[in-house]
Amino acid sequence: MCGIVAYIGHKPAKELLVEGLKRMEYRGYDSAGIAVLNGGLRCIRAVGRVAVLEDKLTTVDDLEGTIGIAHTRWATHGEVNEANCHPQQDDKHAIAIIHNGTIENYATLKTYLKGRGHSFTSATDTEVMVMLISELYQGDLEQAVRAALKEIRGAYAIGVICANEPDTLVVARKGSPLIIGVGAGEYVVASDASAIVAHTTQAFSLDDEQVCKITRDGFRTSTLDNIAVTPEVRQLEIDLEQIELGSFDTYMMKEIYEQPERLRLTMKGRIKSRDGQIVLGGVSKFTRELVRARRFVLTGQGTAYHAAMLGEYLFEDLAKVPAKVEYASEFRYRNPIIVDGTVLVAVSQSGETADTLAALHEAKERGALTLGVVNVVGSSITRETDAGVYLRVGPEIGVASTKAFTGQVAVLTMLALYMGRRRYMSVEACADLLSQFERVPEMIEKTLEQNDHILDVTKKYVDQENWLFLGRGYNYPAALEGALKLKEISYIHAEGMPAAEMKHGPIALIHDGMPVVFIANQGPQYDKVMLNIEQVKSRGGRIIAVATEGDKQIETIADDVFYVPHIADPLSPLLTVVPLQLMACHAAMLRGHDVDKPRNLAKSVTVE
Ligand code: F6R
Repeated sequence: MCGIVAYIGHKPAKELLVEGLKRMEYRGYDSAGIAVLNGGLRCIRAVGRVAVLEDKLTTVDDLEGTIGIAHTRWATHGEVNEANCHPQQDDKHAIAIIHNGTIENYATLKTYLKGRGHSFTSATDTEVMVMLISELYQGDLEQAVRAALKEIRGAYAIGVICANEPDTLVVARKGSPLIIGVGAGEYVVASDASAIVAHTTQAFSLDDEQVCKITRDGFRTSTLDNIAVTPEVRQLEIDLEQIELGSFDTYMMKEIYEQPERLRLTMKGRIKSRDGQIVLGGVSKFTRELVRARRFVLTGQGTAYHAAMLGEYLFEDLAKVPAKVEYASEFRYRNPIIVDGTVLVAVSQSGETADTLAALHEAKERGALTLGVVNVVGSSITRETDAGVYLRVGPEIGVASTKAFTGQVAVLTMLALYMGRRRYMSVEACADLLSQFERVPEMIEKTLEQNDHILDVTKKYVDQENWLFLGRGYNYPAALEGALKLKEISYIHAEGMPAAEMKHGPIALIHDGMPVVFIANQGPQYDKVMLNIEQVKSRGGRIIAVATEGDKQIETIADDVFYVPHIADPLSPLLTVVPLQLMACHAAMLRGHDVDKPRNLAKSVTVE
């Protein structure tokens, strides 16, 4: 989704802002722009990649200021064209704004502002914001921003500059992330830490409805009612190495390969396998409520939804507590019943997904205890939940979620065992699962060794336009995830479903040569899956199986096999998903697509 970056300091702003935009390219966007104060206000915008903007900037020579704002836009209000790009300016060309989020009452405000004589050149809600600031401006930018925000309903993270105040940058947020990096006499503000970390690792976040006025000499943070607040400046938890490609060609491949090392961090200090013990500091304050909970609702979108679905299986199976998974977007609008003792678990990599946040608000409103299973530290979901457990998988730059998925599943597994052990599970049973769980990273390492074989198999099928992904039990959500990975980056049509469901309709699709991926690990439903394979095989489908090491029977029926080490069934999706991630990545690359920037997608979906 949109990215914002702003700078005030002593360095030339233009280069720094463009570099910041490039670091945020992974979030997904369709146009970009920059405004710099250099005597007056200069604003340059372009449709397409940041590289297009960069080319355009080479033709402009008065952009030398040391204060500026820049933006990558993912269209929400108004089509993709230059007029709708950010920065947006007021009609006097004195004030410029960059904005992430959406303004709900923009139409009413626009009518009012038109009545006051303002003329508009874009279809954006952002132009309405800057015009309102301009209307309310009486010589103090911070005051005007504050006054305008009081009139606005919706979500925003903004950066504002004004030609009359060349030494002031004003930023504010509500519902959209905004981080202020604090350097020596300079400040880099961005919606994403990746645009800041090359310049400083000291930073603070604004809370909702807070405004920050920044000059080269310091900053002042306050509420919309102008009550001063003191934010806590902390160390950013990412470093440059984590957001650079290193020896990999794509972030997606890098992140698939990072999974073993990242999962070791996810587990670090949290499990004592010999004692059958799990220590989750983030939820310990609520242990009693969790153990006594009557019902869990797990929610998320996309990949996070698939992880949440595994959470449902894990909670019911291992903790013996009723659990239900729901798309956050559905939960929010369907008037859900929240009985006493309900816990809502919001699963999200970014912690900013609008639908998941909205579901969280709804559940809170109805009295549920709320937990976050989130990667990005300090993100909106982590701030608004009662408690939670971080994934610790590091920044995920590839748009297709990989290491966040295994991180989410690992955390949900630990949560299930945390409760299970305190409810019905024996020390021995818990210790047994934990000792296998601890070995997941090395088992993923072993699975990754088949990468060349997975590439060769992918080449055989990459021209096929329709694929099915089938699994049962714990590996049904893994099949859904495999299908999502393939479709979102290779643009191949792929569907995931329970293996048994196939014969209730979708089997009609099977034709000669159609690739059907079966997750056929040796779990409790192995024999049933083998039956389903026969049904597809006899109709001409080509079988790609993900199976357990040492299974020779599968080779007699499948066309191609990827093996994963043997592990207890509840832990198996942590392994079976890995060949599917690799296959999707190869398929996209073989088809010549940019796997890190798939068409139409954004990394973090902050609009409904
Ligand atoms: C798919 C993918 C998306 C996200 C979804 C939720 O690879 O990345 O489906 O999983 O948009 O995002 P988060 O986890 O940030 O809430």
